[in-house]
Amino acid sequence: MATPSLIQEFERAGQGHVFAFYNDLSAQEQQALLAEAAEIDLAEVDHLTRTLLSKDAGSGLDLSGLSPAPYELRPENGGDAEAWAAAKATGEAALRAGRVAAFTVAGGQGTRLGYDGPKGTYPVTPIKQKTLFHVFAEKVRAAGTRYGKPIHWFIMTSHVNHGPTEAFFKANAYFGLAETQVHFFRQGRMPAVTPEGKILLETKGTIAMSADGHGGSLRALDRSGALDLMEKQGIDILSYFQVDNPLVRGIDPAFIGWHVLRGSEMSSKMVAKAYAGEKVGHFCSQHGKNIVIEYSDLPKSFQEEIEPTTGALRYIAGSIAIHILDTKFIRRMARGSDSLPFHRADKKIPTIDAAGNPVKPDKANGVKFEMFVFDALPFAAKPVVIETPRADDFSPVKNAEGLDSPKTCVDDQLRQFARWLKANGAVVPTDATGLPPFPIEVSPLFGYDEDSFANAWNKLVTKPAVAAGLYLE
Ligand code: UTP
Repeated sequence: MATPSLIQEFERAGQGHVFAFYNDLSAQEQQALLAEAAEIDLAEVDHLTRTLLSKDAGSGLDLSGLSPAPYELRPENGGDAEAWAAAKATGEAALRAGRVAAFTVAGGQGTRLGYDGPKGTYPVTPIKQKTLFHVFAEKVRAAGTRYGKPIHWFIMTSHVNHGPTEAFFKANAYFGLAETQVHFFRQGRMPAVTPEGKILLETKGTIAMSADGHGGSLRALDRSGALDLMEKQGIDILSYFQVDNPLVRGIDPAFIGWHVLRGSEMSSKMVAKAYAGEKVGHFCSQHGKNIVIEYSDLPKSFQEEIEPTTGALRYIAGSIAIHILDTKFIRRMARGSDSLPFHRADKKIPTIDAAGNPVKPDKANGVKFEMFVFDALPFAAKPVVIETPRADDFSPVKNAEGLDSPKTCVDDQLRQFARWLKANGAVVPTDATGLPPFPIEVSPLFGYDEDSFANAWNKLVTKPAVAAGLYLE
């Protein structure tokens, strides 16, 4: 039998070992291996080996000309109230015109949470135990009703969780959304390699492939046809958020409006860092471009620097992974000469030895390549960063316990519900942090932000007493 040309290509690239056990495989397994191999861009792997894996590949971080990125302060912190009002009106108009879609990146592994299944199927709310996907679906649905235009929702999955994610939505009747409104697509994969750049096999017939990071969403949006669909629907504004943060105002008119009014290609929300060493990315400006520098890369002296006039942290703007992207910009990033850089992550990667026996490494034996969505910022024209109160937008479920855990997330939801109720005249007992002593819950279908909650609450002829178990829907 002739050797498939793909195998020859791998041989020429010094990766022929991927097919070392090819002749031991069944015809079906051979086809599966060839299909996996076809996903790999050998030139890209070669480039990454030469740039990221070579001995003299430094950290690569250039700190020259670095300064904090400018951002728009909230009106209550001294920002321009009129400009915020104009932004909100513009955002609302864009929503009424059907220009906006929601986009959730849900291709992660959720290793830290240690939950078996797509993270979006994890229950998070205080009383009803609604899952993350359920909360987002109700927010998308409620915002669509409010602005008189159903909102399309794009969800990026991984090869591993695509099937279970789709099945979950089907089993839950898309949480009241139309099936045609919810779009799933898989993100791309990259092969794991040895520190020398040799592609690792997972078994004799499978390559050690893994998701290419949330930055992979830009090319996956293009490759999957999602951008074409948006174009057909007249959608040019994509509201990006992560699957683990149920507090997020995924459809935020003021944010959308700032993006539109400034002609921004990629906009971001910042929160003031809680303390100098908080583990968030930092919005910085360098040679006229916006960039995000991870806490692990920004020297401590920068993280702790104080603004002499105000006494506040100089690099105070923390990134919470909430963005708005222009669809043409996504297309350009996916197809043009600009592309996102890859980052290396040294990991323990289950593989096989030269005889084909399984190897379970106890220390890092290989490298995975990932892209980060915030690396698109320096390529974006007129990027805008706006301030947002952490309590209204950010409480992710990352860890099983402690910081950013299900417990802290429930408490933050309770504080938010209590805040909305109090702002509208209800009596709610709370401790000094604003936490009520009993569980209450507000369905996003009742209110999904301050404004929609106020509307719904003020329409109630008889206001319920705020007590343990109150559920507003
Ligand atoms: P995280 O950085 O929290 O990673 O992802 P993770 O894989 O979910 O969790 P850990 O680190 O294994 O515990 C942030 C967001 O980016 C998405 C995740 O689903 C989450 O919404 N993501 C991450 C992807 O969509 N694809 C990826 O390849 C990585």
